Amino acid sequence: PTPDNEDTNNENIRCLTTLGHFGFECLPTQLVNKSIQKGFSFNILCVGETGIGKSTLINTLFNTNLKESKSSHFYSKVGLKVKTYELQERNIPLKLTVVKTVGYGDQISKEASYQPVVDYLDAQFEAYLQEELKIKRSLVDYHDSRIHVCLYFISPTGHSLKSLDLMTMKNIDRRVNIIPLIAKADSLSKSDLQRFKSSIMSELVSHGIQIYQFPMEEDEDAAQVNPSINGLLPFAVVGSMEEVKVGKRMVRGRHYPWGVLQVENENHCDFVKLRDLLLCTSMEDLKDQTHTQHYECYRSSRLQNLGFNDMGPNNQLVSFQEMYEAKRQEFQGQCQREEEGLKQTFMQRVKEKELTFKDAEKELQDKFEHLKRIQQEETLRLEDERRKLEEQIIDFYKMKTASETSQAQVCASVKKD
Ligand code: GTP
Repeated sequence: PTPDNEDTNNENIRCLTTLGHFGFECLPTQLVNKSIQKGFSFNILCVGETGIGKSTLINTLFNTNLKESKSSHFYSKVGLKVKTYELQERNIPLKLTVVKTVGYGDQISKEASYQPVVDYLDAQFEAYLQEELKIKRSLVDYHDSRIHVCLYFISPTGHSLKSLDLMTMKNIDRRVNIIPLIAKADSLSKSDLQRFKSSIMSELVSHGIQIYQFPMEEDEDAAQVNPSINGLLPFAVVGSMEEVKVGKRMVRGRHYPWGVLQVENENHCDFVKLRDLLLCTSMEDLKDQTHTQHYECYRSSRLQNLGFNDMGPNNQLVSFQEMYEAKRQEFQGQCQREEEGLKQTFMQRVKEKELTFKDAEKELQDKFEHLKRIQQEETLRLEDERRKLEEQIIDFYKMKTASETSQAQVCASVKKD
C-alpha cells in the first residue's frame, strides 16, 4: 500500500500484488480460527401450543432427530423442557440448546401460561448478571444460557391471533428476539395464508408488540435479502423428517393424497428462508441483540432497582466508587436512624411499664392501708370487749365473794341458835 502523503505521480513504479496474506489483513482469519476453536453456541426457545409442531420443526432445521415423547394436555402450569445438543457440521461445532414449552395454552388462566416463560427468560439474565458481578469471573467457559431467539408458533387458524399469543408476546418482547411462525402452514391455502400473515402483522403493530427485525445495512448479502424478508414475517413453516420421492430425487416433505409438500421448496413454504436466516445470516445478530439490547435492558433495570444510578442527585456523573460510598453512608445513616428509633421505643416502653408498676404499687399500698385500718378497728373492738369481759369477771368474783360471806354469816347465826 502507498501512504497518502507520498508522491504517487511516478507512473514508472512497478506494483506487485502480494502472494498470500500478511499484516493485519489476517485479523479476520485469527478471529475465525479462534471462534472455531471455541465453538459456537445458540439457544432457541420454542413457544407454542401442545402438538403444534415445535419438535418436528427443530429436527427439520438441524437435520437431526432430537426425539422426545409427546406432551400431555393436562398440566396445571406451563413447564420448560431444556435440552442441549452438541452438533457438528464439517469442522464447526455448535452447542445447541433448545427450550420448549410443555403444556402451553392448556391452562384456564392465561398468566399461568405465559408467566413461566417470562420467569425463565429473566432467570437466565439473572444467572449471567450474577456471573458478571463476581470478583472471580469465568465468563470465557461460562455456559451462557440466555435465549437468543424465541420461535413463537402461531396456530394456523386463518383468523387472527389468540389473546394468549398477544399477552405472551407483549410480555416477552423486551426480553427476547421474537420470530413469529405460522405453524403447520400446509393447512392453509395460499390466499388464506397471505391474508392471515397481514392480519397477524397489523395486530402485532396495533398492540405495540416488537418482533425481531432482520438487519439491513451491516452485511451486504443480508442488505439485499432482508427488506423483503421482513415483509415475509410471520414465516409460514412446515416441518417434516419424512423423505418423499419427487421425480428422481428424495426430498424432505409431507405426503398427501393429492401430492407432496416439499419442506425445502420456497414456493411451498418459508422454511428455507427461516433456516438461512437463523443459521447462515442472522445467528450472530440475534446473539448481539440479546446481549446489547435485551440483556442490557434487564441489567440496567435490575441495577436501578438495587439503587444504583449513573447520575448523582444533582444530575452529575458519579463513579461506581462514589456510588458505593454514598450507598454505604446512606445505609449507615439508615442503621443509625433505626437504632435511634429502637432506643426511643424501648425507653418509651420502659416508662410505660414503670407507670403501670407505680399504679399497681399504689393500688397495693391503698389496699394495705385499708386492711390495716380494718384490722386496727377490729383490735380496738376486741380490746373493748375484753375490757368489758374483765369487768364482768371482776363483778362476778365480787358477787361471788359477797355471796360466800353472807352464806357464812347465815351458817354462823344458825349454829349460834
Ligand atoms: P409437544 O412437545 O407434545 O407439545 O408437541 P410439539 O409441539 O413438539 O409437536 P410435534 O413436533 O411432536 O408434532 C405433533 C404432530 O404434528 C406430529 O404428528 C407431527 O407429525 C405433526 N406435524 C408437525 N409439523 C407439522 C406440519 O408442519 N404440518 C402438519 N400438517 N403436521 C405437522
